[in-house]
Amino acid sequence: MSQEVRGVISRSKGAPVEVTTIVVPDPGPGEAIVRIQSCGVCHTDLHYREGGINDDYPFLLGHEAAGIVEQVGEGVTDVAPGDFVVLNWRAVCGVCRACRRGRPWYCFNTHNATQRMTLTDGTELAPALGIGAFAEKTLVHAGQCTKVDPAARPAAVGLLGCGIMAGLGAAMNTGNVTRGDSVAVIGCGGVGDAAVAGAALAGATTIVAVDTDSRKLDWARTFGATHTVNASETDPVEAIRAATGGFGADVVIDAVGRPETWKQAFYARDLAGTVVLVGVPTPQMQIEVPLLDVFGRGGALKSSWYGDCLPSRDFPMLTELYLQGRLDLDAFVTEEITLDQVENAFDRMHGGDVLRSVVVF
Ligand SMILES: NC(=O)c1ccc[n+]([C@@H]2O[C@H](COP(=O)([O-])OP(=O)(O)OC[C@H]3O[C@@H](n4cnc5c(N)ncnc54)[C@H](O)[C@@H]3O)[C@@H](O)[C@H]2O)c1
Ligand SMILES: [Zn+2]
Ligand SMILES: [Zn+2]
Repeated sequence: MSQEVRGVISRSKGAPVEVTTIVVPDPGPGEAIVRIQSCGVCHTDLHYREGGINDDYPFLLGHEAAGIVEQVGEGVTDVAPGDFVVLNWRAVCGVCRACRRGRPWYCFNTHNATQRMTLTDGTELAPALGIGAFAEKTLVHAGQCTKVDPAARPAAVGLLGCGIMAGLGAAMNTGNVTRGDSVAVIGCGGVGDAAVAGAALAGATTIVAVDTDSRKLDWARTFGATHTVNASETDPVEAIRAATGGFGADVVIDAVGRPETWKQAFYARDLAGTVVLVGVPTPQMQIEVPLLDVFGRGGALKSSWYGDCLPSRDFPMLTELYLQGRLDLDAFVTEEITLDQVENAFDRMHGGDVLRSVVVF
């Protein structure tokens, strides 16, 4: 028997999102229904609304969520009703060529629910990143549910489900930041500030935060930045070199994802340093760099998908650090909002007023 709940959908390109009734089918084999407690508003939800991901409207938005497993389908053994979980969009398959090589964080065939949620007229919904959690309940693959300590605040640990994990992992996993490293982060929204926090957790001694908005730089300091650079006033490459003895940083993370910020990252790193691109570019963007500079400067030019995370390994560990007071996930929650305020939260995101607005049920 299916059930009807309220959810936020994007019906057509660019149109404001709306709260409507959605139909959630009973979980089939390998699936689970999760009662959502919190879901953060991520830039990617706005990309969906604007047609930047694909044209598969209507979308059921929301994907940075925590909640309680309510029902599981046949064959589900890893989670059970009552479990507190953070949802992930990397339910690894175990058998693709990446998984078989022991690199499941690159899994090329991640699982999502097989059945579709629908509108009351039967129209199938496309859930954002295979999740769709701006809804009282959602249907996912059981592998998308990662159990974490239920003592944690849902609005805070739910953010591990996307942007905050992407930033933490860009530093800790992709960038391999370690004790004594110097790190620079360009763009200090939720993702960039998480990269700052990740660099601090990993033991970096110099952490340079770069943004064009001074409010963001104040926030970055609270997450562990030792130096801040306002890129609208100062050349970030010069400033990052100045903060690192004239050499450049060991790891530079681009959390904006534009040609100009990537080039800054490229030239602001020390010889043999690492660039990590975590901001998402648009299809039109191009870069041009002398090949001799690529060779002559050495090191590694990497991209970070979802912080190269493995949810089963990283979510419980980061939740534990949060509960121990060593990772301030609460500081990413700028405001708690209701389901009908998502459209308004997109405006506030654009205005740079928030790190994260989080829908709380
Ligand atoms: N790789 C992944 O898996 C992954 C996951 C989630 C989000 N993302 C992407 O990460 C990026 C950042 O996300 P967010 O939620 O932090 O966004 P955001 O809009 O909150 O933050 C972007 C920040 O960059 C700053 N900025 C803009 N132009 C700049 C410039 N030229 N120089 C310096 N700073 C500049 C802005 O002032 C803002 O503080 C987005 O592109 C998002 O799509 C990637
Ligand atoms: Zn796989
Ligand atoms: Zn996201």
